[in-house]
Amino acid sequence: MKQTALFLTSLIVIAMGCNTETKVKPGITKKDWGETDGKKVQLFSLTNKNGVEVKIATYGGTITSWSVPTKDGNRADIVLGFDTLGGYLAKPPYFGATIGRYGNRIADGKFTIDNTTYTLATNNGKNHLHGGIKGFDKVIWDAAPVVDSVPTLILSYISKDGEEGYPGNLKSIVQFSLTDDNELVITYDAQTDKATPVNLTNHSYFNLTGDISNSILGHKLLINGSNYTPVDSTLIPTGEIKDVKGTPFDFTTMHTVGERIADVKGGYDHNFVLNKATDPLPLMAVLTDTVSGRTLEVYTTEPGIQFYSGNFLDGKIKNRDGKPINQHSALCLETQHFPDSPNKPGFPSTILKPGEKYHTITKYKIKF
Ligand code: BGC
Repeated sequence: MKQTALFLTSLIVIAMGCNTETKVKPGITKKDWGETDGKKVQLFSLTNKNGVEVKIATYGGTITSWSVPTKDGNRADIVLGFDTLGGYLAKPPYFGATIGRYGNRIADGKFTIDNTTYTLATNNGKNHLHGGIKGFDKVIWDAAPVVDSVPTLILSYISKDGEEGYPGNLKSIVQFSLTDDNELVITYDAQTDKATPVNLTNHSYFNLTGDISNSILGHKLLINGSNYTPVDSTLIPTGEIKDVKGTPFDFTTMHTVGERIADVKGGYDHNFVLNKATDPLPLMAVLTDTVSGRTLEVYTTEPGIQFYSGNFLDGKIKNRDGKPINQHSALCLETQHFPDSPNKPGFPSTILKPGEKYHTITKYKIKF
């Protein structure tokens, strides 16, 4: 009897040990979050003085939760996600993940640099999407929590020459900082030893209502982009840069997402060409839920934003609270270079050469 009790107690202690959150720095905690590929995964949490909390897993450099206090004393989580690693190992469509080596599509998984043609893994019909079969969203990143005036998590990953078909060893560093102004600043740095395309982004799906049973069709959106890149039936840009004026793509003034979506075949899944700005980190998109009063501002150094209205979400996956993730339950605003740039000479280049430094910044500010 005594022995059983002792055994049970030790089991509980071990179980607790696995899930114990340890404070590693002011505003940063860390816990073990299971294992995959024979490696341990950790979940970090960054918090600020206003009670904003962002959780980031070393698996996929994934933002698993991003929550803010509500007026009634509860919390609202503004992104899709799961509380366990298992949810991510089931390969949801990139929820919260860091995307690389190349965010969005490369036509036929092929491109040519200096007369050499490279063939990438194809994982979206005949095209390559979000870095391939095992992109940066499915690898384990090395983590270093630091307090660089604000709680910061630095993730790094070395992608080997030939991984998913890409040339060159690429070292990527992605830094997440949470400020007391309720900003999450994500800085992406990379260096390579052979010329390679690079286009890093984050794939968080937002629903500012905090309850995914409310669709995002009622959210108001502004995108500071007077042009967009039209696509073919496989979502590869045609190469045109088209004026949004008079089209359902005109978000240069605020519109609800749902207002004109029926006029866009399949829903919004398009790259917006952001207007040139003098500010080094300009405000390029604003998303508002008028019911809760929450607003998300997106600032970026990138030339484009992929606005994806969650068209392929189909209710089969359940969110952390068990609710089905239906079509338009959430939307993405992925800051990026344009899709298929390696095959589109008219688009800004995405080729990183040895000796060059890839450096982009995206800042999300949540007002609540
Ligand atoms: C793409 C969509 C895709 C989604 C999830 C977005 O970035 O533009 O076409 O379905 O990611 O993979």
